[in-house]
Amino acid sequence: MEVRPIGSQGLAAGAVGFGAMGLTGVYGTAGSDDPAVLINQALDLGVSLIDTAESYGGGENERLVGRAIAGRRDEVVLATKFGLTFRNGVAAADGSPENATRAIDGSLARLDTDHIDLWYLHRVDPDIAIEETVGAMAELVTAGTVRHLGLSEVAPDTLRRAAAVHPIAAVQSEYSLFCREPEIGLSRALDETGASLVAYSPLGRGWLGGNLTRPDDLAEDDFRRFIPQFQGENFGQNAALARRVGEIAEHAGFHPAQMALAWLLGRQPAVTPIPGTTKLRNLAVNVAAAELSLPADIHAALEEAADGVAGERYPSTFMNQLEG
Ligand code: ATR
Repeated sequence: MEVRPIGSQGLAAGAVGFGAMGLTGVYGTAGSDDPAVLINQALDLGVSLIDTAESYGGGENERLVGRAIAGRRDEVVLATKFGLTFRNGVAAADGSPENATRAIDGSLARLDTDHIDLWYLHRVDPDIAIEETVGAMAELVTAGTVRHLGLSEVAPDTLRRAAAVHPIAAVQSEYSLFCREPEIGLSRALDETGASLVAYSPLGRGWLGGNLTRPDDLAEDDFRRFIPQFQGENFGQNAALARRVGEIAEHAGFHPAQMALAWLLGRQPAVTPIPGTTKLRNLAVNVAAAELSLPADIHAALEEAADGVAGERYPSTFMNQLEG
């Protein structure tokens, strides 16, 4: 698989990464393959960026990733995050230096490693200056437990201020045909600071996989049931857009997920998508996107087909954590 730089300080990873969040059941578990088998298969196929977070599954996601990569640590660009907690369904940021120092030890223990390759602030804490948070994160780079720093869902100026304290290798934001917010202001700041964009939910949390047609396709405990994009009339409107993307894919002879990821891989500046899946067959489709280069007219057709997504991309109790 093509290897792409992440940031300007020597970090690099396979063009398609793997987002592990879904492995601890956030989108339901029906038909899931063994997560360790899945992660090892991803590595076999050339994936190297494996993305988790302290908050996923209350720590269980990091444990699961740690167990899966045991014995293959040097093949992995291991990314995790700190600074976001979920209490009673409400998200809260904590970017205090004390929290950074506390969090790293837990992540290292759960991932069973002595260093994190890419350590993100999961959400910006509005009560702590970003310089203070990044200063504390940078101390862990000096200590050797962290190699590169990242931020998630930040405003362009936050990235600029952070990068003035320490190089920022990556900004992780939601980015897909269904969510094009990073194109508005972030691109320029990425260019100025040398940070790369890592795209989470690159399949629009499943819409672009092409098999969500009815609200009942979502399990009772699926987090997406709480997201406005997947509720009421929005569901029907967004399913219609996904169908249009699917038709373009079918006409061109590709899987819609492969096309949606190839669209991202063709963006400039370069983007590293981290699709999540619980299934080996979907993993193979997603990885195959790295081999697909789409002509400009298909890019344009996909963008037109996906235009007009209805509803917010998070529940209201999560929206105020996004700087965007
Ligand atoms: P996130 O980053 O939040 O995990 P995403 O990568 O945009 O979101 O989408 C993840 C969703 O897309 C999951 O529900 C996943 O379902 P499976 O676990 O059943 O695979 C779905 N998905 C991932 N790859 C897919 C593919 N190739 N075809 C269809 N659905 C896919």
